[in-house]
Amino acid sequence: MSKKVVLTGDRPTGKLHLGHYIGSLKNRVAMQESGEYDSYIMIADQQALTDNARDPEKIRNSLLEVALDYLAVGIDPQKSTIFVQSQIPALAELNLYYLNLVTVSRLERNPTVKAEIQQKNFERSIPAGFFTYPVSQAADITAFKAQLVPVGDDQEPMIEQTREIVRSFNSIYGKEVLVEPQGVFPPKGSGRLPGLDGNAKMSKSLGNCIYLSDDADTVRKKVMSMYTDPNHIHVEDPGQVEGNMVFTYLDIFDPDKEEVSRLKQHYQAGGLGDVKIKRYLNEVLEAQLAPIRKRREEYAKDVASVYQMLKEGSAKANAVAEQTLAEVRAAIGVNYFD
Ligand code: TRP
Repeated sequence: MSKKVVLTGDRPTGKLHLGHYIGSLKNRVAMQESGEYDSYIMIADQQALTDNARDPEKIRNSLLEVALDYLAVGIDPQKSTIFVQSQIPALAELNLYYLNLVTVSRLERNPTVKAEIQQKNFERSIPAGFFTYPVSQAADITAFKAQLVPVGDDQEPMIEQTREIVRSFNSIYGKEVLVEPQGVFPPKGSGRLPGLDGNAKMSKSLGNCIYLSDDADTVRKKVMSMYTDPNHIHVEDPGQVEGNMVFTYLDIFDPDKEEVSRLKQHYQAGGLGDVKIKRYLNEVLEAQLAPIRKRREEYAKDVASVYQMLKEGSAKANAVAEQTLAEVRAAIGVNYFD
């Protein structure tokens, strides 16, 4: 039986943080280690450029940071294919054909793009490439005939749009050319890590992140600044664990569930101070972050090898995408000289 093809990706607009780790990186490593999937992991530099066209330096620098973050968390280029979107010309050509299968009004209805347009204050000055990036994402997914796309909940509309494009394409130009992908989403309630400040989302633009590349001192300071229970003023006061980020993080990161429940009871009863629970959380996080940080530092010493790895991954991905493009061209009938 052939392995299921899995494709995921990230926009390189900065370093990756613990939210990425919990929301997707951990899951990707698990899928890789299961040996049951043929995994492709794409650094979506072209998608990142759709709203950063005037800041290409940021994307160029972030590409390396993201590659280092991948390697640091245990994505193994011997087992997963890590590649760079801009190095796969077939993706741009697929995008061009798919754009004709999508209406402007359908694009306007994409809730994630809608939310991003608001958040970025584009108003009427939306870059056309940004507006249509869901179609480009359909090209990314279908070029590899990916069956599974493990992503955060916010990407659900992209998968839905991809499925629509696949159905239109197959019905117009001939069945079985493209494969309809399925999204794989984190279990409800567990996939999203809130920010240090209690915001529902850890996000670079909110400045509430712990980065995988943060040094131990920075992590400790960030943990010490975390949002807890604003009414828990004196150690002896009873404290709230709901909405208290220290306990939210302990629930997610501490493998010792019994200890967490003991601490919660103590905190609720009163007599357990914030500094103590923060120190404990810091230890729990350090146990997981220290090996990641160490591997990252090792890989960062040899940047040339990291680029070489990306080059090899991109060559492999390119061959697969070229094959799909040839089938797409033949299905449309623009293969005049074959
Ligand atoms: N849109 C994704 C993000 O915002 C990145 C991405 C681009 C992607 N192409 C993809 C994810 C294909 C999954 C599959 O992070």
